[in-house]
Amino acid sequence: MHNVLAERIREQMRWEVARTGPPDGFPAFSPIASERYTSDLMFELEAQNLWPRVWVLAGRSEDVPEPGDHMVFDDLGVPIVIVRNTDGVLRAFYNTCQHRGAPVVRDARGSARQLRCQYHGWTYEIDGGTLVSLPDERDFVGLDRAAICLPPVRCETWDGWVFVNRDPDAESLLHWLGPVPGELAELGIRSEPLRRIGRTSEVIACNWKVAAEAFLEVYHFRHIHSHDGFTLLDNRGAAMGLLTNGHSRMVTPFSRRRCENSGMADWADWQDLKEPGFTDIATVDRMIRSTSTAYSVFPNLISPLAAYGYPVLNLWPIDPGHTRLDWTHYGPVDWEGDELPEHWQARLERFDRIMGEDTANMAPMQRSLESPALAGIRINYQERRIWHFHEQLDRMIGSERIPEAWRVAPLLGRYVES
Ligand code: FES
Repeated sequence: MHNVLAERIREQMRWEVARTGPPDGFPAFSPIASERYTSDLMFELEAQNLWPRVWVLAGRSEDVPEPGDHMVFDDLGVPIVIVRNTDGVLRAFYNTCQHRGAPVVRDARGSARQLRCQYHGWTYEIDGGTLVSLPDERDFVGLDRAAICLPPVRCETWDGWVFVNRDPDAESLLHWLGPVPGELAELGIRSEPLRRIGRTSEVIACNWKVAAEAFLEVYHFRHIHSHDGFTLLDNRGAAMGLLTNGHSRMVTPFSRRRCENSGMADWADWQDLKEPGFTDIATVDRMIRSTSTAYSVFPNLISPLAAYGYPVLNLWPIDPGHTRLDWTHYGPVDWEGDELPEHWQARLERFDRIMGEDTANMAPMQRSLESPALAGIRINYQERRIWHFHEQLDRMIGSERIPEAWRVAPLLGRYVES
């Protein structure tokens, strides 16, 4: 089937391979201030203005399949509980009891018809979080039980992915995601047949943006990810797509050697390649099979796609110089039992090795960013997803709140795909 998006990307890749420089009129980027990665002030601005206002991935719909099933979500730094209500709809509440502030739910997962605080037993219903009963109510003078509830948190899903947003006035999740859901549907990426296969979590001594940016370009690929003089991708043909709200796409052609090894004439010979042993997502477009295609959902979700499943990377800031990086693999499960088949074990090991090559650079880079030797980081044309990401960060924080010398100028608006 002719895929309009894939054809458009292929055309862009042809242009990228042939170009002798950036397109005419492409702006020059000034250095990005290193304080954006190192200062307490920037971290605080993000803590006040970004994380409480943005949609972030909290889990999968099948993590809480039945009414009453719930899971805690603490990655935003505030305790939240996500529960499937009696109508089967997912709801989220602050996991903070309105008696004396204990977490209502302490276990990571559970199932109950009501949420009963584990400290003194105040009990909340799961549809609206209203307080329905409490021990020794007679001892609370003037307590209006009907007026007390667990404060709600926005919770919406897309294709089984559960997102939360602490901002009650936030735009809907689907509106926020802009073209991303439609593009993934067009490329045949569906989460419905997928199951969680493996999860790795690592705390890295770097700012969360240092970690994020490692996955927003492939300029580094042939330097960090070469083995025996052989690299898998050709960064010169990387086709970047700047999408609304700081989201972006990156499609990179295979290197000549990888094409040869795969039986492709060259990068433009898009073949329906299959990885031996794997069961593929049946609907996936051949572009996914014969390129490296990755999406980034602002601010902290990155996914390099593959026909047989994909890892989802999430970045969670701890402090200005520490970040937790999680990567969780999802794929069609076609085997019995708990033991991972050999081809999946090899896949996870290979991916962890690549991640290790990326993460090994992050803590040293953070230390270097803190050096007085650096005036600011320099971004080139093929790294423009990074600038696009920072533009969105400034929009969400509010440029006027950021010291003038640290701001990122809005330069890429006309390159954002509509
Ligand atoms: Fe929850 Fe007391 S803190 S019942």
